[in-house]
Amino acid sequence: MRLVVVISGEGRNLQALIDACAAGQIAGRIERVIANRPDAPGLARAAAAGIPGLCIAQQDYPERVAFDRALAAEIEASRAQAVLLAGFMRILSTEFVDQFQGRLLNIHPSLLPKHRGLHTHRRVLQAGDAEHGATVHFVTPELDGGPAVICGAVAVHPRDTEVQLAERVMTEVEQIIYPQAVAWFASRRLVLGPRGPLLDGTLLDKPIRFTKSAEVRLEPLIPGSLPGP
Ligand code: GRF
Repeated sequence: MRLVVVISGEGRNLQALIDACAAGQIAGRIERVIANRPDAPGLARAAAAGIPGLCIAQQDYPERVAFDRALAAEIEASRAQAVLLAGFMRILSTEFVDQFQGRLLNIHPSLLPKHRGLHTHRRVLQAGDAEHGATVHFVTPELDGGPAVICGAVAVHPRDTEVQLAERVMTEVEQIIYPQAVAWFASRRLVLGPRGPLLDGTLLDKPIRFTKSAEVRLEPLIPGSLPGP
């Protein structure tokens, strides 16, 4: 499957996707990485992996719709079958979202529907939540409101700082669940149907929940590719 990844920053989720493609865990190839900021460090990760990178600088497009159209044109030029938002810190227009409906995925650092929007780690600490995590979802025009596919949780520790909590969510959840969701999508096991996401033909009325310590364990990305118990 032809994949395009859209980023704004560090690109740690991008890196997890690059690694999973290289390992054969995702039946797909990242054709292009597009950033909305020229200084996005994730562009260097793309270059290091030999993936063409491109910046569409948002300051060149005062109108939101004009930026979104330029982004959509580049994605379509790559003949992308999936568009993966990976730390893309910009709200997309309904026109854009509709154009890519059913092939547009995002990862959000919270256990949706809790804590949509920005500064999720800080808000979790302020709220005194016992757990936190991340969710992969199909994108709809409603911000962080599209149908969820998979989520994963970590415990919030009493002395956690925002940075420590963000790091734990990234390494223990985000970098696992995003490649997993993309692997399902690239192998056509995951699709967005009229009533919601279907995994192997079963409607997901709530996201699959991944937790590192619990009995719920992800199957190997490619059956037989991981050592047995
Ligand atoms: C991640 O936490 C992602 O979920 C959020 O922004 C962060 C981006 O990190 N939307 P990176 O660019 O993948 O390192």
